[in-house]
Amino acid sequence: MNLLGAAIVEDLDREIAFAQRTSPFYSVVFSAFRDFFAGESNGAAEGGLSDILQLWKGKVVTAWFERPLLLSAALHRVALADPQGQLGRFYATCGGRYDAGDETAFREAILATITPARSAFTHFLTLQSLQTNEISRGLTWLIPSAAEWTHVRRPVVLVELGCSAGLNLMADSYGWSFQGQGWQWSQFGSLRLEATISADDQEGLSNAIAALPLMSSAIRRRIGCDLHVPDVSDGSARSMLEAMIWGDNEPRLARLRQGLAVLEAARTAGYLELHQGSALEVVPCIALELSRTLSKEHMVVFFNTVVTCYFDDDSYQTLKEHILAAALGPLRDHHVLWIEHEPVGSRNVSPAGARRNESVITVHRPTLGALTATVLGYTEMHPRTLHFEQLVGK
Ligand SMILES: C[S@@+](CC[C@H](N)C(=O)[O-])C[C@H]1O[C@@H](n2cnc3c(N)ncnc32)[C@H](O)[C@@H]1O
Repeated sequence: MNLLGAAIVEDLDREIAFAQRTSPFYSVVFSAFRDFFAGESNGAAEGGLSDILQLWKGKVVTAWFERPLLLSAALHRVALADPQGQLGRFYATCGGRYDAGDETAFREAILATITPARSAFTHFLTLQSLQTNEISRGLTWLIPSAAEWTHVRRPVVLVELGCSAGLNLMADSYGWSFQGQGWQWSQFGSLRLEATISADDQEGLSNAIAALPLMSSAIRRRIGCDLHVPDVSDGSARSMLEAMIWGDNEPRLARLRQGLAVLEAARTAGYLELHQGSALEVVPCIALELSRTLSKEHMVVFFNTVVTCYFDDDSYQTLKEHILAAALGPLRDHHVLWIEHEPVGSRNVSPAGARRNESVITVHRPTLGALTATVLGYTEMHPRTLHFEQLVGK
């Protein structure tokens, strides 16, 4: 095994450890790939291994979970394309079923898929980078923005960095059901998302939740940028986003499909402004454009969810400088904040309560010529329970 193969095996080992706690099904998927890359299965002997290693030779990856998740997405894509096929019968998202006794048959189906379907499989691996679009992450900008809005009460502009198809930019318009200590709040909508929310500042949280509909009606623009913005009216872009979801999580797939319908309508109605390009290039342009078009003071919320964890340190520093320059320059007459929802350990200070594999919500605001970061709280990677140690930050 060469160095790249060894690195992939190491990443897969970490992903197996994660899946053992969260998904027996994916622990089989990742360990089948692990055996394949470690040369312990027939697929490797037939040359599949060297093909994939060749394809990935120059590929830059910055997050350890990138390659394992791309591999599992490529497999899921093959399953979704043929739900009745030998692989589909194990995937809940294809109407199939996986039981503990199915491990050997499932592993065989995986290897059989990698080998004959290699062109469909490897095509995806070469062209695709990790591009999820998890709707529940929209909560991580929604709640802190509503808390901020109760103090500011201005028209709002949203700017999402790494927005993928744009689902999270519509988070305020979905159906929600929030549970808290002694309270429940629901909003009717075409998809219903549930979350349990707690905060050290109970009163601040109640005020933020109560302000949600008003803040939502104050949103004037929804701007997003991504290196690649999937066009949700295109079937292959939709199936790519679907494949990124774990195939034993049918409710999440159903949620994505409902969200895509809302998104498509919003895009057709012109509610979203989506730009293809790197956040590093787009932020200064958006700031300039906003400074020319916004006639009175707005609350401008930059946010990203699971995006800057892919940045190297220099790129992250540049992004910070661009947001600070925008806040002190073209947007100086506006109320600017930057909210991040990123995995624990990716440049954020982990709050004491955050467990491994959870993520942190941080707010940055321009103070005395610099951006000051405050950890607000933490949640899962696909938020179901959120805890805020602070709602607004310093
Ligand atoms: C894991 S996905 C997360 C997508 C979405 N924010 C979510 O939470 O589901 C990471 C996204 O970041 C985008 N991305 C990575 N680097 C970027 C950059 N420099 N500028 C803009 N988008 C970027 C990728 O294209 C991808 O869509």
